[in-house]
Order: sequence, then structure tokens, then C-alpha cells
Amino acid sequence: MKALILSGGTGTRLRPLTYTNAKQLIPVANKPILYYIIEKISKVGIEDVGIIVGDTHQEIKIAVGNGNRWGIRTTFIHQPFPLGLAHAVKTASSFIGDSDFIMILGDNLFQMELDEIINNFYLNNSNASLLLHRVDNPSEFGVAVVENGRIVKLVEKPEDFISDLIVTGVYVFDKSIFNAISHINPSPRGELEITDAIQKLLEMGGKVSYTLTSGWWKDTGKICDVLEANRLILDSPDGIAGSSCVLGTLFNNRIHMGQNVTVENSVIQGPAVIGDDAVITGSCIGPYTSVGKRVEIINSHIENSIVLDNTKVENIGKKISGSLIGKNVTIKNSKSGQDSLSFLLGDDSKIAM
Ligand code: TTP
Repeated sequence: MKALILSGGTGTRLRPLTYTNAKQLIPVANKPILYYIIEKISKVGIEDVGIIVGDTHQEIKIAVGNGNRWGIRTTFIHQPFPLGLAHAVKTASSFIGDSDFIMILGDNLFQMELDEIINNFYLNNSNASLLLHRVDNPSEFGVAVVENGRIVKLVEKPEDFISDLIVTGVYVFDKSIFNAISHINPSPRGELEITDAIQKLLEMGGKVSYTLTSGWWKDTGKICDVLEANRLILDSPDGIAGSSCVLGTLFNNRIHMGQNVTVENSVIQGPAVIGDDAVITGSCIGPYTSVGKRVEIINSHIENSIVLDNTKVENIGKKISGSLIGKNVTIKNSKSGQDSLSFLLGDDSKIAM
């Protein structure tokens, strides 16, 4: 079996971060989302991993490399335009060849391992097998209707209730998906949709089985979902690892410290993760906060947030909460006593005061 990770796309909903970064490389608990997926693939012993890349190909190639460190071999497959998930599969056809393959969307994070999903594909003698997740609001998603352990129908954003099982971004296919894709047309939004391809596969007599998620599952396409994923991952137990300076600082709950972190006169309230060479002075960090490398936080309070590398937050009188702050950002209260505020913000930035 091979694996295919979809790391192209445009990431419109995560602008402005995605103007300069691939969304699959946004760190959650200080680790890029894509790495969690690669770790799971490597754990089930799959060695041949294709990665669909688009405009952000350079960044992804640098971050993943040849896959040696996970014991996998990577093949980067360029999708010239993000013309849909089924288009991405089609683009990967020569990499896949006649193999069965597991496909994972590069922005999906989930708790369970992949063995049950792969086993179900084979045990049910399927042409496709999907990971389904039960939700309270199915009308916002692609929904699967199931009967006798099989998927019988897929419906995109149904107006009337037909099922509370939604299609996640984890699929296993055999080569019959390529034939199904060759029989579908672009959707009204101009994309070759994978749900249309699977529906076509069903109509052509294909057998589609499923596995239900155990534990949490998150599509990190929106900022609120990235922060929720950060909370979920930080909630898994961890310990304190060596910090260089802990003057007057209270550490509470589960905290993961990078190398050479300096903390002084602060409260670090876990769960939290602090990156290498960060400096935290007179501040309160956490809970549910990930602080990147070389970040400086001075006289400020940050909770339930992600702060990316090389950012500086200084003298902010109000608590910062529910925020995703990019790399090399400065947020500073000049203490000059002026009534005015001064901003230098990129396109699509959002400030809530
Ligand atoms: P989406 O979240 O559906 O699309 P997107 O990344 O373009 O984001 P947005 O809707 O905010 O503009 O994509 C899910 C995953 O699949 C994501 O990792 C990007 C990837 N993808 C491709 O590789 N090729 C494609 O043609 C598309 C549409 C997505």
C-alpha cells in the first residue's frame, strides 16, 4: 500500500497566514500539522508516500525532505492548480500505479491510528473505505448514508437530515477510483470533487466500506479549528523538560519546554508548550498556549493561543486569548501615554479589541 497526502490547495480561509506559509505546516503544539500525518503513515509501515504540492511546494519540500527521518520515501507531485481533491488523485496516477493507497488531506488532525481504517478496507473487500465522524451539524458537511456496514450514498451539505456521519479527510482506495474520476465532471465551483468520484464508484457497483472515528478529529481549515486542535493535542499528557532559568516562576500543570528557554517572574499555566530560545518575562502564559522558537513575551498575558517563531509581545495590558499570531510579528504597547494606536498589518489581518 502507498500513501498520498494532499498538501496543495490555496488555504483561503487561513489568510493572512497562508500568504506566506503552507497551511499544512502551521505548527500545532509546536509541530507542523503535516508531521502528525506522516508519523501516523510511518507507524503503519507504509514506506512510499506521495505528497501533492502546489504553490507552496518549496516550503513543503524543505520541511519534509526525503522522508528518511520517518523511515519513508517521499515523492512530491506537483498539481499546477488546485482543481479539486479528485483532480489531485488523478495528478498522482503515475505515482500510485496499480497500488491500493491511503489518502489523507494534509490539514486533517485526528487521534486514532490508521491500522483499523486499513484493516477495514481489506476485511470488507472494498474498492474504497472512508473514515466517518459523527457530528451534531451534518448539514455543513459531506454526509454518508450507511446500510449494513456499507456506504450507500454520499450527499454534499444535505438540507434535510439523512445521516449524522460526515466524510473526513481519510480515505483508502484501490485503483478503481481512477476510472470513477474519469467519469465525473467539475462541480459548480469548478473542482473535481472526491465525493462525486466516490458516488460514481458506488453507481458503478463499487463497494465502499467505512470506519468510525474513535477519539477526536479536526479539519484545521479555519483559525478556530487550528486553535481547537492545539487545545486537543496539548491536552495529551507531557512533562517539563529542562529550562535554563526559572527565577520567580510558577509552573503549573503539563508544560513542555524547549531548549534554552528563559523564564523570569512569570506564571506558566499548562497545558502549554514553549519553543527553543523563547524568553518570557513578567508574563502569564497559558493554559492551552503554544509559543514558538525565539518568541519574546514581556509583561503580557496570553492564553488559548498559538504564537509562531520570532514574534515579540510586549507590555500588553489586556489578556490575549483565542489568537493565532504569525512569525516575526511585533505587538507592543509603547507606554508613551498617547491615546492613539499604531498598526502595520498585512492583507486579511484580523484584530478584535
Ligand atoms: P481544502 O481545505 O478543501 O482547500 P484549501 O486548502 O484550498 O483551503 P480553502 O478552502 O480555505 O481555500 O483542502 C483540503 C486539503 O487538500 C488541503 O491540505 C489542501 C489539499 N488540496 C490539494 O492538495 N489540492 C486541491 O486541489 C485542493 C482543493 C485541496
